Amino acid sequence: MEENENNNNVSRRRFFKITTWGIGGAMSFLLGYPMVDMIVSKSKSGHSIPPYNKLVAVDAIPNSFKPVKKPSKYWFTKTDTDAYLKFKKHEDVWVVKQPDNSLKVFSPICPHMGCRYNWNQDEELFICPCHNSVYTIEGKVVSGPAPRGLDTLPIKIKERELYVLYERFEVGVPQKILIGY
Ligand code: FES
Repeated sequence: MEENENNNNVSRRRFFKITTWGIGGAMSFLLGYPMVDMIVSKSKSGHSIPPYNKLVAVDAIPNSFKPVKKPSKYWFTKTDTDAYLKFKKHEDVWVVKQPDNSLKVFSPICPHMGCRYNWNQDEELFICPCHNSVYTIEGKVVSGPAPRGLDTLPIKIKERELYVLYERFEVGVPQKILIGY
């Protein structure tokens, strides 16, 4: 009788021990996984590389040189990560379809000090409102304090859809230095 009671106590203690370890392990995994995931994917390249963002069907992009010079602006929603929390953010990029139908996608950020520049249809030039840097439709600096041309972004075409990798670069320097996504 006494032996039975002792066995029951031991089983109960083992059960609580195993349950506690199980719950603790599951909690650690749930809380720790996003951080580990972030660290592992960061260690491959120095930055964690997000997926490319789907932009537009390639055939829907108008020619940027005929009948007039005119780039196209496209918006998309990307997922950003702050610490290990994910949130949605709207972004835009400039797309230039060359006469041979090849594509160039520019970051919307002026490489001088990070303002957003616009397309001026009368001048057929990109102009930044902050300090008047001026760029051609090909992204070359025409005038102003910009230390380099407009930054192109990596693109992919899959099933006739254009995808872009939104990258951010250091401003105010002549080299294109990646600082994030
Ligand atoms: S930020 Fe564009 S010219 Fe200065």
